[in-house]
Amino acid sequence: MNLIFFGPPGAGKGTQAQLLQQREGIPQISTGDMLRAAIRARTPLGQRAQKFVDAGELVPDDVMIALVHARLNQPDARRGFVLDGFPRTVKQAQALDRVLEASGRPIDVSVYFDVSDEVIVRRLAGRRVCRQGHIYHLEASPPKVPGRCDLDGSPLFQREDDREVTVRRRLEVYHRETEPLTDLYRRRGIFEPLRDGDIETVYRNLVAIVKTKTGSQKPD
Ligand code: AP5
Repeated sequence: MNLIFFGPPGAGKGTQAQLLQQREGIPQISTGDMLRAAIRARTPLGQRAQKFVDAGELVPDDVMIALVHARLNQPDARRGFVLDGFPRTVKQAQALDRVLEASGRPIDVSVYFDVSDEVIVRRLAGRRVCRQGHIYHLEASPPKVPGRCDLDGSPLFQREDDREVTVRRRLEVYHRETEPLTDLYRRRGIFEPLRDGDIETVYRNLVAIVKTKTGSQKPD
């Protein structure tokens, strides 16, 4: 099961990828989470990526392509994956095709999260995350104890790039660089739009798409 999730920042890709990874037992490969972990650990990758992430700009393609290539070759990704946040440019999409073709792993479906810019800006103002990347929302998906992660009680915080000015920059970059992928995947017949709604409704519709496109037999 090889899936791509793409769409604007804050559309709910990570939320749905975390739910689907539990259901299907395949890893969520979130390039944003990988970059944030590298930035926290001050690795050479993190030091190179930080200024782009903080500014809401894309990290250069060559860096991202090498990162994802290495991750897809890890054993847990051999049975399938949910790519969350990659590809984000036509060049990244072409590189992904080459990597997957070489290992005989075609993409089953590319799910497009269709959410308007104004909803995104409001939604990201309420996002809170923990250090491990678990995602909450002050209204739509609050933690059991305010300000604490349900899983380990660690403090929740707002992402630096969720300030409105940076969100608007990320949206601009998204429309320019990533939106063209809709045509690319539509032409290839693997494009599936996912309408916005509450988290449970979006998840139900996502599972229906995944079942149709991959033949997954997992019970609901
Ligand atoms: P990344 O972390 O990938 O950010 P993003 O794509 O902008 O996506 P987000 O993580 O912001 O949002 P999401 O769609 O996962 O939404 P979520 O589920 O959290 O990338 C960050 C940066 O890294 C980039 O700006 C770039 O610099 C760099 N980068 C990463 N990948 C790169 C690449 N391939 N190339 C170059 N650079 C790259 O949900 C958002 C909020 O809404 C949460 O609070 C959630 O609880 C809530 N929510 C979710 N669904 C719903 C719903 N249906 N209704 C109401 N609330 C909802």
